[in-house]
Amino acid sequence: MRELFLTGATGRLGRTVQRVFTDQWNIHPCSLSRGEDLTVQDPVDVTPGETDFVLNCAALSSRGGCISNPVTAFKLNTLWPQKLAIFCRETNRRLLHMSTDLVYAGGIPPYTETSPAVPRSLYGWTKLLGDIAVQKSNPNACIVRTSILVGAAGAKMTTFSEDILSGSATHFHVDCFRNHTDISALAQFLSECLYSSRSGLILAAAPYAMSRAAYAYSLLQRDINLIPAPGDIPHDLTLKPSEVIG
Ligand SMILES: NC(=O)c1ccc[n+]([C@@H]2O[C@H](COP(=O)([O-])OP(=O)(O)OC[C@H]3O[C@@H](n4cnc5c(N)ncnc54)[C@H](OP(=O)(O)O)[C@@H]3O)[C@@H](O)[C@H]2O)c1
Repeated sequence: MRELFLTGATGRLGRTVQRVFTDQWNIHPCSLSRGEDLTVQDPVDVTPGETDFVLNCAALSSRGGCISNPVTAFKLNTLWPQKLAIFCRETNRRLLHMSTDLVYAGGIPPYTETSPAVPRSLYGWTKLLGDIAVQKSNPNACIVRTSILVGAAGAKMTTFSEDILSGSATHFHVDCFRNHTDISALAQFLSECLYSSRSGLILAAAPYAMSRAAYAYSLLQRDINLIPAPGDIPHDLTLKPSEVIG
């Protein structure tokens, strides 16, 4: 049995991981609503002793949430991953840390592992600094960078496809391109990646990008409301992933 410490266990990806990982994994979940606040606790205090694998899905994951709570965003998205990476190196635990395409500016696609990252949001900056800290503190760790996640997650925050199908998303950007990535297929890849000896940055996402409007139309198959994306968000985040998901 592989013992996994899973942070962000109640989030979209955390819930999916718990559903998708096989029973070869014994998952030790951690989240804010369970009483574990990673902005104030140290890895040594929250990581169960028997775990030798760690998957860091905890994040302040919305642009608005980061703007309203910048200190929390920095502590959770940047400082916590750094502390966790050092702890995992010192205790010989295998660490996978989740990253986002929003670290890129959206101007010179397609993005690969060697593309320069210059975020356009506080969320993107806190995540990028976390990624860099993990890479520097623990060269054996993996940083898995993905795009917008879609599919049924059943978490407090919803995925883009859940928003489309529930009708809570009603207007769709025609000029905002992402690699809409199936959340269950990504979780399956994470399980394989955890058990591998891979290290460093991995772009793992759906093979091709499409506009958010095109993705919404592919799900609904009916006329939809098209709008331009606001100027302050990255427009073309097309990834050329080395790990094709789905
Ligand atoms: N969703 C996407 O489309 C997407 C795209 C690209 C990359 N990613 C990355 O994938 C990872 C997972 O994202 P997600 O969408 O699953 O996030 P999410 O749905 O927003 O879930 C965030 C998780 O972090 C936990 N958390 C928040 N504040 C905390 C704190 N102070 N202490 C401890 N735990 C805390 C939450 O716990 P509670 O529920 O208990 O509050 C929840 O379990 C993140 O690194 C994100 O950047 C996501």
